[in-house]
Amino acid sequence: MTIYNLGSINADIVYRVPHLPGAGETLSCASMTRGLGGKGANMSVAAARAAARVVHIGAIGPDGIWAKDRLLEFGVDTQHISVPDTDATGHAIIYVDDAGENSIVIYPGTNRQISTQMIGAALSGADPADTLLIQNETNAQVEAAKLAAERGMKVAYAAAPFDAAAVESVLPFCDFLILNEVEAAQLEHASGLGPDKLPVRDVIVTLGSKGCRWHRSDTGESRAFPAIPVEVVDTTGAGDTFTGYVLAGLDRGMTMEQAIAQATRAAALQVTRLGAADVIPDLKDIQGAAF
Ligand code: RIB
Ligand code: NA
Repeated sequence: MTIYNLGSINADIVYRVPHLPGAGETLSCASMTRGLGGKGANMSVAAARAAARVVHIGAIGPDGIWAKDRLLEFGVDTQHISVPDTDATGHAIIYVDDAGENSIVIYPGTNRQISTQMIGAALSGADPADTLLIQNETNAQVEAAKLAAERGMKVAYAAAPFDAAAVESVLPFCDFLILNEVEAAQLEHASGLGPDKLPVRDVIVTLGSKGCRWHRSDTGESRAFPAIPVEVVDTTGAGDTFTGYVLAGLDRGMTMEQAIAQATRAAALQVTRLGAADVIPDLKDIQGAAF
């Protein structure tokens, strides 16, 4: 089965700072690294590292060819990534402090220029056993979700960064929703519905170092899963790693419990590494991990 991921691709620039800068503050940082990021790209890489077949649907500018090459190196199918010359590739400036906390500013660039024809062309080869994954760093989420639902595909939605309007329009097509605590609170505020009351079959709320909670609407059950305690270096991409791994696990026939257990290990390792897509662990790394 295949995971089609309509997702952002960013050039991440990571500054390691003693503390997150305040208003009017000029800070000098100890290190600067560049790499592949974007919630979409991170999830594609994670799912591919977890041995799923992944087709990435997205757009980069002419300055982002390296990012497409990088995705390909990770085993992601990149033939549905277009290269419009109307804007720059999306990028993110990321500050990571000594406690591993981050703050991120993104410039969407071509991530918001994905054509619906491109999405249609990509999904024309999909079948009902396949999954469409979407987030909120691109355009055309609703169009894609509708197309996928029409084809009988499963629709998985990582509603990050939170966007009330996007969530409202995409939610009716979703089978699987994954949010962090803050996004879940924002959704509850916007819709009046807690994660256990949403009209979506499976909802996972990630809780950082406190693990995650899975709500299933068919049985009304809700279960908590602990995280693995680790030395935090950089939390960037940990949530994306978790999402990619959960979806890959489900795609490869795991139960939700098994998929969450494996994703929890992957996310824990990712937290110990500086960077986003470039350092997402593979299955061997997870097996070899000390925990
Ligand atoms: O979730 C982490 C990602 O958010 C980073 O890689 C950055 O590009 C932003 O999209
Ligand atoms: Na990281």
